[in-house]
Amino acid sequence: MERKIPEWLKNAVFYEIYPQSFLDTDGDGIGNINGITQKLDYIKGLGCTAIWINPCFESPFGDAGYDVSDYKKVAERYGTNEDLKNLFDEAHKRDMHILLDLVPGHTSVEHKWFKESLKAERNEFTDRYVWTDSIWCEPSGMGCIRGISDRDGSCAVNFFSHQPALNYGFYKPTESWQQSMDDEGPKATLEAMKDVMRFWLKMGCDGFRVDMAGSLVKHDEESKGTIRLWQNVREFLNEEFPDAAMVSEWGEPDKSIAGGFHMDFLLHFGPSHYNDLFRCEEPYFSSRGKGDISQFVEKYIENYEKSDKKGLICIPSGNHDMDRLARSIKGDELKVAFAFLLSMPGAPFIYYGDEIGMNYVENLTSVEGGYGRTGSRSPMQWDDTQNAGFSSAEKEKLYIPQDSSPDRPTVSDQMSDENSLYNFIKSMIDFRMKNPALQSCGEIEFKNIGYPLVFERTTEGQKITVVINPSADAKEIEVSAGKVVFTVCKGGSLDGNILKINGTSAVFIEN
Ligand code: NOJ
Repeated sequence: MERKIPEWLKNAVFYEIYPQSFLDTDGDGIGNINGITQKLDYIKGLGCTAIWINPCFESPFGDAGYDVSDYKKVAERYGTNEDLKNLFDEAHKRDMHILLDLVPGHTSVEHKWFKESLKAERNEFTDRYVWTDSIWCEPSGMGCIRGISDRDGSCAVNFFSHQPALNYGFYKPTESWQQSMDDEGPKATLEAMKDVMRFWLKMGCDGFRVDMAGSLVKHDEESKGTIRLWQNVREFLNEEFPDAAMVSEWGEPDKSIAGGFHMDFLLHFGPSHYNDLFRCEEPYFSSRGKGDISQFVEKYIENYEKSDKKGLICIPSGNHDMDRLARSIKGDELKVAFAFLLSMPGAPFIYYGDEIGMNYVENLTSVEGGYGRTGSRSPMQWDDTQNAGFSSAEKEKLYIPQDSSPDRPTVSDQMSDENSLYNFIKSMIDFRMKNPALQSCGEIEFKNIGYPLVFERTTEGQKITVVINPSADAKEIEVSAGKVVFTVCKGGSLDGNILKINGTSAVFIEN
C-alpha cells in the first residue's frame, strides 16, 4: 500500500489550537474560527507552518467537543462552515496547512445516528454502534449505556459514559451480538466516516489528527483489524485526496504507519516515558533532574526501529490533555526543553500559549469534561488589555478563568523582549527550517543519555550534533569535531572534539 508523505509535512512545525480559548472576536467569552484566521500571521511569524485545531463541530460539549453531534457542521459558537472554509483559504494563501480533529471512535449521545439506534424498530442506524442483544448483557471491559431506550440491549462506550462506541466490528467475534469487520453495519460506519473526511477535504482541509485511532476495531489485541481498517481509509485517500495528511493519536508508530498514517504522536500515557522528560517530580529537562532518560530513549528507539525509521513520532510541548509545560519547569529550563523538542525527528507540536510559557491555572472547577485538564485550557494571553486581549466579554463570562497572576506572560511583552521564550522559540524554529538534518525525516542516533544529552541528526549532505545540558552544572564531553552553529542560553565552547557546555544550555555543532 502506497503512502506518500505530502511535501509540506516533511518540515512542518505545528501549532495546536484549542478553539475555545484562542481568540474571541464576537465578545461572547469563547474563542472562534475567525479568531484563528485573524491570528494566522502571528502563528506564521512564530515560524509554525501548520495548525491542528481541536474538534470544532456541533456538540453538547460534554467532552469539549470530542463528543460530536454533527460531523459536518461547525458548532455555532465557533461560527459557520463558511468561516472554516475561509480559514483554509487564508492559511493556504500563507502557505500554511490545517488539520482538523477527526473523532471516529465515538459520537455524542445527541448525534442523530445514536438517537435512531436507540429505537426498538430496526433502521439504518441499528448497527451503527456496538450494542449487545439484551439489556442484561454488558459488553465486557468497555463500560456501557443502558436502560435509556426501548431497544433491548446495552451500548458500549469508548471514553466518557456519554460517548457511545461506533461499530467497526470485532476482530474475532465470539458472541452472537458481536459483528465482524466485514458485516454490513461496520462497513456502513466506515463509509460514513470516509464521507465525513471527504466533506472537509473537499472544502480545503489538509488532513486530520485522528482521535484514539487505535480504538476502532474491538477485541483486536494486536491491532490487526484496526490496521486493516486504516489501510482501507488510506486507499480511499490515495484515490481521492492523495495529499491528505494523517497524524494519529495511537502511540504505536509501527502500527499506525502500517495503517497508512504519516505520523504518530508520542503519548503522555502508556509505555512512552514522555512524562520523564518534563512532567514528573524530577524531570530530566530541569535542574531537579537526575540525568536519566534511558527508559524514554529505549522505548523511543524501539518504536523508531520497529517503524523502519519511517515512523515519525511527533513530540508535543503539551496538549489539551496534560499539564502545562510551565507547571513543572521554569525560565531557561523551558528554552532547553524547546531546544530538544525542536530538534527531534517527526513534526514538533507547540500547544498554544506554550511559546510564552503560559501557566497551568490551579484549582479550577472542571469545564466541559476537562477535570484536571481544565487548567491547561485557559484563554490565551495576548496583551495587557481587558482579559489579556482574548475577549471583550465580562471577565465572569470567559470560557475558563484566566491566569490571574500579575506577572502572567503575554505575547506582546514577550515579543518586545529579545531574551523571551517566544523569541527563543522563533529563532530555534528558524534554525530548524534552515537545517534539513534537524527536520522530520533526518535520522537520529543517541550518543549520550546522561547529562549532557548528545544525539546526532543526519540527512544526505548534513550532520548536526545536538548537545543539551539541562543540569545546572557545567559539563565536559567528547563529541565529533565541527563548528558551533547555534547556542541556547549560556552555550559552551568547543576545542577540537572536547565540548565544555554551561549549565542549562544547549550547543549545536555542524560536523
Ligand atoms: C483524546 C482527546 O485528546 C481527549 O481530549 C478526549 O477527551 C478523548 N480522546 C476522547 O475523545
